[in-house]
Amino acid sequence: MTTSHNYDPSPEFVRQAHVQGMEGYRELYRHAEQDPEGFWGEVAAREVHWFEPWSKVLEWNPPFAKWFVGAKTNVSYNCLDRHAASHRKNKAAIIWEGEPGDQRTLTYQELHRLVSRFANVLKAQGYQAGDRAIIYMPMIPEFPVAMLACARLGITHSVVFGGFSAEALKARILDLGATLVITADGGWRRGKEVKLKAAVDEAITECPDVRSVIVYRRTGSDVAMQEGRDHWWHALDQGVSEECPAVHLDSEHPLYVLYTSGTTGKPKGILHTTGGYLTQVTAAMKWIFDLKDSDTFWCAADIGWVTGHSYIVYGPLSAGATTVIYEGTPDYPQYDVWWRLVEKHRVNIMYTSPTAIRALIRQGDSWPDKHDLSSLRLLGSVGEPINPTAWEWYHRVIGKGRCPIVDTWWQTETGSAMIAPMPGAVPLKPGSGTFPLPGVAPDIVDFNGFPVGPDREGFLILRRPWPAMTRGIWGDPERFKEQYWTKVPGAYFTGDAARCDQDGYYWVLGRVDDVMNVSGHRLSTMEVESALVKHPSVAEAAVVGKPHEITGQAVCAFVTLKKGEHDQEKLGKDLRQWVAHEIGAFARPEEIRFTDALPKTRSGKIMRRLLREIVTSKTVTGDVTTLEDLGVVTQLAAQQDEE
Ligand code: WT7
Repeated sequence: MTTSHNYDPSPEFVRQAHVQGMEGYRELYRHAEQDPEGFWGEVAAREVHWFEPWSKVLEWNPPFAKWFVGAKTNVSYNCLDRHAASHRKNKAAIIWEGEPGDQRTLTYQELHRLVSRFANVLKAQGYQAGDRAIIYMPMIPEFPVAMLACARLGITHSVVFGGFSAEALKARILDLGATLVITADGGWRRGKEVKLKAAVDEAITECPDVRSVIVYRRTGSDVAMQEGRDHWWHALDQGVSEECPAVHLDSEHPLYVLYTSGTTGKPKGILHTTGGYLTQVTAAMKWIFDLKDSDTFWCAADIGWVTGHSYIVYGPLSAGATTVIYEGTPDYPQYDVWWRLVEKHRVNIMYTSPTAIRALIRQGDSWPDKHDLSSLRLLGSVGEPINPTAWEWYHRVIGKGRCPIVDTWWQTETGSAMIAPMPGAVPLKPGSGTFPLPGVAPDIVDFNGFPVGPDREGFLILRRPWPAMTRGIWGDPERFKEQYWTKVPGAYFTGDAARCDQDGYYWVLGRVDDVMNVSGHRLSTMEVESALVKHPSVAEAAVVGKPHEITGQAVCAFVTLKKGEHDQEKLGKDLRQWVAHEIGAFARPEEIRFTDALPKTRSGKIMRRLLREIVTSKTVTGDVTTLEDLGVVTQLAAQQDEE
């Protein structure tokens, strides 16, 4: 997989870069290694405004970390006030485009004003530091406004991606103990309205703790408003003060909880706090994206995922960048919508996922070729391993061979990118995230925790705490310990397999647990299985990820049915719809296979590994000695051959 062709940054790129040449990178990395805490202290002092200093950089009681102990700061202050009081006051903070073609540009001053007003609205509703809010919004400027207003007051927010269903939303509201929901009537997606308020209504019939629902009017469609509980944003916003000082919060104050899939059916609420998170995401803007004040930065993810939190909202705004937000999808109304926006706004840095790149490759070069992409100087990739073919296309057709590509490895739990090239320093190998960022200590180990050495596959671990690391799973410290910190004593277990080549380049290969990666979004096999077995006709279900040309993996479900007559074709459709209802449309299985039995071990555990082999290679080669009934596998594999 190691390609022979390396891509060196051009001399022009190196000359203007924050970190120049391999020596520049190595020096910074060495400096961090010699004294990690001293290093992060320097970065924190440089990148973040603190109201009060820390007494200690790190307090580490594995696996629980406190960064910048005793210090006071505020994320919203760092993203807004400090820029609104500087030469950046009239710089565009957000350039926004709606799917129907509407456009808004908000300067730092204007954004500061909007956020202060909305924070005052929240205050007037009786909310304060320590309360929890759910944000369920379309990709409009009020989405980051809601996040920043919460952060301003110390209200811990949990963003739920707009593609999640009412059921999924309800589970998150309850787990978080949220008393406030911020939403909109709906949003636009491929010309259709996604009805968000209706989903909220369905979700909160069983959430008695929610006192207020604040609704932004985006689409103008009819929604039900419950007297006393539901309020229009624009009504509450009448005549409120534009002054709202940012609360001086402890560095460890919970900033947000973001739910992600684990290996059980229940999503885990990944907790991020204030000072450490802000320090690392801000630093990343310079290290990975080589951000300059003149750059227009576009991370084309959804704010509903961690990528959007760190690299649409908090990282770019804290760094004083111009961040582009687009409401729609890359394929609507035409396949050139992204490239039209790059040309129109003269975007300099573009960050997206391999899935999106592969989907666009399929539509041909004529779409990007219609547009002037010469403003681009740097490209990024995140979410899954990028196959070298997609990398080469991105480099050649979008970057015109001129733009380095930063392939950034990280996770919801890591908060910020961890393994990624510094583009003015590191020669690139397509498909590799290259080297760890300064202060990051990865290793690749075997089952016993011993390093496997160069060119060998193993488990990717992180040996040292880092400022943006998750502080735990909301309400479940035991699960946090068990999932991440027991497999290799003292180290963080990422759940990914990786290899490090002779030159020290990291190649992340994919998950080693029962977690799928569909379009760069994490989805647990168990979550989909739990949804399926709730259906009255289903006896058992086993779900595996099946290789997919565009989305990386697709959901494939093996289902056994309860006794009785079944119309399999209709039931297949029903079950796919059922999963969309239980979790969200993005989790809908691509394929449902009905079978008489599932392969199990003697102790009754479903052998997903075998099913994975069936959907991947058609033959079963792994160890089957613990199989209860070999006949089942033979039958499943035979079924495959018939297709
Ligand atoms: C998992 C984390 C990080 C934001 C988006 C996904 C995979 C992510 C890469 C990459 C290879 C990658 C890993 C990781 N992953 N980026 N550049 N190369 N794999 O966040 O939903 O928390 O998923 O995505 O498997 O563990 P997430």
